[in-house]
Order: sequence, then structure tokens, then C-alpha cells
Amino acid sequence: MAGPRNILITGGTSGIGLALVDRLSKRHRVLVTGRKISPALEAMIVQRPDLDFLALDQSQPEKITKTLTSYLEKKKWDQIHNAVLNAGTGFVGDPVHETSDKIAQTIAVNLMANIELSHCLFPYLQKTKGKLTFVGSTARKGAKNFSSYAASKAGLHGFARALKEEWRNKVAVQILHPGPTKTDMHEKAGLKLGMIRHLFASPEAVAHMIENSMGRNRFSTKMTSFQYWGGNHLLGRGLR
Ligand SMILES: NC(=O)c1ccc[n+]([C@@H]2O[C@H](COP(=O)([O-])OP(=O)(O)OC[C@H]3O[C@@H](n4cnc5c(N)ncnc54)[C@H](OP(=O)(O)O)[C@@H]3O)[C@@H](O)[C@H]2O)c1
Repeated sequence: MAGPRNILITGGTSGIGLALVDRLSKRHRVLVTGRKISPALEAMIVQRPDLDFLALDQSQPEKITKTLTSYLEKKKWDQIHNAVLNAGTGFVGDPVHETSDKIAQTIAVNLMANIELSHCLFPYLQKTKGKLTFVGSTARKGAKNFSSYAASKAGLHGFARALKEEWRNKVAVQILHPGPTKTDMHEKAGLKLGMIRHLFASPEAVAHMIENSMGRNRFSTKMTSFQYWGGNHLLGRGLR
């Protein structure tokens, strides 16, 4: 499809989501969600009239779909071309120290809210034969000190695979798995990174690979700095 699209991006207040918002809102109408608007996103919204923010806390999955549908109605969006479900959270540390509340929050934000959102978005995406893109993680295959986060992303991968079959010929589904990326997620999760952070991909590089994958027909792709420098960002034409 050529021309401006209606695009929803969750967790677009910082990191990978914000870098993707920056890329896509130059050419498309973008609705961003997150817990609270960030100064960086606010500055972007001032410059771009087709960029908009809705506060949506995914730790309460049962409440978000009503808030989203009411807002879409108010905004007069009855169709969506692309939705990128990117918001995510996690805990880093020995699993025995992870509280039940933190485990529940990780599963709610990374898995349950995305299941609720995808059901709610289906009628909007079906109208355009659009695409739903989940942001997973390479940690889904198992990562020390990230066990419930890894489980939430493995669950998301399984859900995406099932949804792809359910929605076949109606709405395309894909899940993209970034590797370690230079965002604040690790610190928010309780991990202090040292020099190793320099080896991580930048959020801009990952956003570039996400945009290219959104324009291609691959169900699942890994996105690490290795893939980036191997030329992944040169594949695809991005979103027209
Ligand atoms: N960084 C990495 O190494 C890495 C690797 C693989 C996959 N990923 C995935 O990439 C995605 C983006 O992460 P990032 O690295 O860009 O981290 P980030 O900068 O922390 O961004 C995460 C986004 O999700 C939002 N979010 C967190 N909890 C939320 C909640 N309860 N309700 C609504 N929004 C919430 C955050 O908003 P707040 O600012 O309000 O928290 C922020 O906008 C996540 O799904 C993450 O799992 C990251």
C-alpha cells in the first residue's frame, strides 16, 4: 500500500518504540501508547500533527481495550494498517528473589495485554488486510536471570504462531526478536550493564530492522547488532 498508513505502536515512549515512532511518523499517522508520555515523545508530537499519544497501562490488561476502542472512535480511526505491540517490561536477577507481584506484572504487560490488544485490534486490521507485529526477544529461548521475562516472550511467540493460522488470509501476523539493545530496559529491570553495553545494537538500528521486516513477508526474524551489520537493514524497502 502506498500513502500514509494508520499505525499503532505500543510502548513508544522510549527505547526501540520511540526510535520506531520517529522513523514512521515522518510519513504515516501514528498513535503511540505507553504508561506516561515522555519529554522526547512530547517534543516529537509538537513537530508532527499526525502523531498522537494515548496513556495505556498494560499491567491492567482487562481495562485497556475499552480505553483504546473509545479513543479510536473519538479519533475517527475505523481502520488500522499496522499495529506494533512493542511495550515490554522485566525483572533481572535470581528467580528466587522475584516477587509474585513482579512475575504477574511481567506476564500481564508482555503477554496478557498483547493477547487482549490483538483481539481488540482484529476488526480494525481486517479492514485493511493489515499486519500485526509483536516485539519478542531472543531471550525467549532461555536466558539466565531473566526467567519470567523469557517465559513471557516464549508465550508471546507461541501465541503469535497460533494467531497467524487463525487470521490466515485476513490479517498478517509476525513476531520480531531483538537481541540486546542499548535502551534503559535493563536498568529499569534492575541490571547495571558495564562495558558490554557498547556491543549492543542501538535502538535506531533495531527500529530500522523492524520497519524493514514490517514491509516483508517473514513470520519471525532475529534482530541483533550482528544481523544489522550483516546487512539486515539493507533488506526490504521499509513501509511505503
Ligand atoms: N533492550 C533490549 O535489550 C531488548 C532485547 C530484546 C527485546 N526487547 C523488547 O523490546 C521492547 C521495547 O523495549 P526497550 O528495550 O525499548 O525498553 P524501554 O525503553 O524500557 O521501552 C519499553 C516501553 O514499554 C513501555 N511499558 C513498560 N511497562 C508498561 C506498562 N505497564 N504499560 C504500558 N507500557 C509499558 C515503556 O514505558 P515506561 O517508560 O512507562 O516504562 C516503554 O515505552 C520490549 O518488548 C522488550 O522486551 C528489548
